[in-house]
Amino acid sequence: MTSVLHGRQLARLLGRWDAGRGIPDYVALATAVRGLLNDGRLALGLRLPAERELATALGISRTTVTAGYRLLRESGHVTSRRGAGSWTTMPGGARVGAAGIWSPSTTPDMIDLGRAALDAPPELTVAAAEALTDLPRYLGDAGYHPVGLIELRTAVADGYTRRGLPTSPEQIMITSGVQNALDLAVRLLVPVGQPVLVESPTYPNALVGFAARRSRMLTYGLDDAGWDGELLLDNLRQNRPRVAYLIPEFQNPTGHLMPQPLRERLPAAAHSAGTDLIIDESFVDLALDVEEMPLPVASFDRHARVLTIGGMSKTYWGGLRIGWVRAAAPVVQRLAAVRVGVDMSGPVLDQLVAARLLAHASSVVEARRVRLRRQRDVLMAALRERLPEWRFRVPAGGVTLWLELDAPISSPLCRAVERYGIRLAPGPRFGMDGTMERFLRMPFTLPERDLLEAVDRMVEARGDLDAPYPRGYDTPALVA
Ligand SMILES: Cc1ncc(COP(=O)(O)O)c(C=O)c1O
Repeated sequence: MTSVLHGRQLARLLGRWDAGRGIPDYVALATAVRGLLNDGRLALGLRLPAERELATALGISRTTVTAGYRLLRESGHVTSRRGAGSWTTMPGGARVGAAGIWSPSTTPDMIDLGRAALDAPPELTVAAAEALTDLPRYLGDAGYHPVGLIELRTAVADGYTRRGLPTSPEQIMITSGVQNALDLAVRLLVPVGQPVLVESPTYPNALVGFAARRSRMLTYGLDDAGWDGELLLDNLRQNRPRVAYLIPEFQNPTGHLMPQPLRERLPAAAHSAGTDLIIDESFVDLALDVEEMPLPVASFDRHARVLTIGGMSKTYWGGLRIGWVRAAAPVVQRLAAVRVGVDMSGPVLDQLVAARLLAHASSVVEARRVRLRRQRDVLMAALRERLPEWRFRVPAGGVTLWLELDAPISSPLCRAVERYGIRLAPGPRFGMDGTMERFLRMPFTLPERDLLEAVDRMVEARGDLDAPYPRGYDTPALVA
């Protein structure tokens, strides 16, 4: 089934395109559509509106649209078949595989900006020592707790209740990190081959997870300001995906925070479309400049359509491997039944450490925010000074900047910068189909001196890309 893009939807996505600004309108139209495709805001395989319909929606002549579509066909961004219409493609049929990132071992002075995560807080060792004193209480039975230890489930449930979403421990299941929570949710909710809607850009390992379950991927493109509510709700109504996976709090990689009015409308729209929402709250604690956080999406759920996943990797430590699902109690029971076929149960000691660590939440969270704010500001100042042609919005929270580069060079830049000992995740990792080459995710989780060093080396690598004989690229490496 090909999704259809209506004229008014494309007109809305195009926003203020460059009609009437010196270049012919049909060239401006083709350039604007190409831009949407390259940035991942227009999915591939979408059927474009009929020429007459788009001409009416844009208030231009049909001849202009015909000429614009012809240019797009010539550049490989549109394919047409008589009788079947025109749909979006990429030149050369480019697609990026959804394989996970696996990098070979890191050299000692490698600055790894491929991971958007912090080191462990000092409170962790204290919590670990405290947890050892709790352990004997659990040693008298076999140690299998598929939904998790009651004290941790209670602590997590209390966290939701404090955020304005009353929650009981029966609604919580503890998982091995957020990734495990997502995997279990997908196993439960998405039969193989069913459509799943994801934001574009989005968290790459979620794409890997969906691909592993052979889901059919549909994308919804975020814009400069985040979610366009009308387009997102339209997308749900039209495509009726089995599941929509969204990251409303400090979205990875863009850092956007979904405003409350859209949160209020989402669950009902999803219910009408027969869609379940998987809401990933990995970064929810890391508000940096937000006066009042909007309520969780699940607060507006009247039909048990929302399954919220969250965890401790971003605020506390990824090495703990503690995540969770918040859902209706019967759904938690069904997830536990699925889990038996995956990893049975989580480690008892780690859950005790997590429960103890959550008791230190306010000091950990406050210190994280202070540090992240400082690191973000240092990084932004260095980028503005050294790479002024790159653009970004100041994220109100989370741990990443989403940089718009001066050209579609994200992958070559990441390869070039690796020679200077910096690892970065290029824009296309966060999209499907080879789009997003104009973007780069830069986390601000490392200490300031590393961030400054990284910017210095990126300036050099950027210069290399413009050199007539780029360093090292003229001689292919010999593999013998
Ligand atoms: C949005 C999002 N979800 C899930 C995860 C995975 O979290 P965990 O390490 O707890 O599995 C990450 C980690 O980067 C993430 O950014």
